[in-house]
Amino acid sequence: MSEQQDRTFMATFVTVLGILVVLAIALIFLARYVQHLAEPGEVPANDPLLEKRKAELLAPVGRVEVAAAPAAGAKAPPAAAAPAPAAGAADGKAVYQATCFACHGTGAAGAPKVGDKAAWEPRAAQGIDTLMRHALQGKGAMPPKGGNMALGEAEIRAAIEYMLRETGLAAGGAAKKVAPAAKPAPAASGAAASAGGSADLAAGERVYKSVCFACHGTGAAGAPKVGDKAAWKDRIAQGMDTLVRHAIQGKGAMPPKGGRADLDERAIRDAVAYMVSKSR
Ligand code: HEC
Ligand code: HEC
Repeated sequence: MSEQQDRTFMATFVTVLGILVVLAIALIFLARYVQHLAEPGEVPANDPLLEKRKAELLAPVGRVEVAAAPAAGAKAPPAAAAPAPAAGAADGKAVYQATCFACHGTGAAGAPKVGDKAAWEPRAAQGIDTLMRHALQGKGAMPPKGGNMALGEAEIRAAIEYMLRETGLAAGGAAKKVAPAAKPAPAASGAAASAGGSADLAAGERVYKSVCFACHGTGAAGAPKVGDKAAWKDRIAQGMDTLVRHAIQGKGAMPPKGGRADLDERAIRDAVAYMVSKSR
């Protein structure tokens, strides 16, 4: 692609991302508002019209993201984002398609994609109870109940089990506890060589854990894993400014700002500095 095409593509891509973020926020508020309205017995929590409307709102999000993502060979979502059938209370597939697909079907916001075993294995190993707690309370960029407060526990559980099944992982068999590789010892960060001069490694660690870890902690989407010196050597040799530019603009399967358009350059720079300090 020429420079001009590149710029046009980036401008479009960033605009689309911006719209997605606004849409996601609007949806979360809509869901809260609707739940607030739903006095017990008045509006059924699973109002089919509401589900359909949400599916309509969410479907284009998924498509745009997939079309715009430069990821070569990215696996197509297992099912088109067809409006969810107004199905039984704990129809995991319907809940997934109406609420979870927007992120977990596309990788938006850095969500672990359904079908991406590498991204899900360490999560599944936490056990269904922990997954349930994280899905109910939210975790990092994952909003509580995926932003749909009308969903009950049984529906969330069914959706998680559906997602694990589609990824080829057993929900029930995942009870064994694995020391979470997810949590690099915070104490070790002080020992790291200073990576970016004035970079705030503690702030960087927080951004990394909430946004970048989804890929860079697990190798999802082919991301260079933090701590994998061989994978980072040539990248680090490009210099901090180039690394930060790539992290902000995106590169290959890496979405701009890791999918979090709201982060400023400072936050990205700190996160890159933290990742580099752990990987050289
Ligand atoms: C707005 C985007 C978004 C939506 C919608 C969403 N998720 Fe997530 N989800 C995420 C992100 C991002 C993560 C990774 C969070 C992290 O590990 O920091 C995640 C992680 C998870 C995890 C793994 C938690 C863990 O302990 O590793 C589960 C389970 C999950 N989501 C279930 C769901 C379910 C069920 C739904 C639908 C009801 C849903 N999500 C909807 C973004 C989303
Ligand atoms: C959706 C997955 C994903 C998320 C989330 C993600 N990355 Fe990446 N990242 C990638 C992939 C894939 C690559 C390798 C891209 C390539 O070289 O083609 C990459 C590469 C990089 C690189 C190296 C660029 C280079 O020039 O070699 C940096 C730096 C980076 N990411 C920073 C970040 C930061 C900071 C965050 C969090 C704010 C983040 N990433 C979140 C997938 C991700």
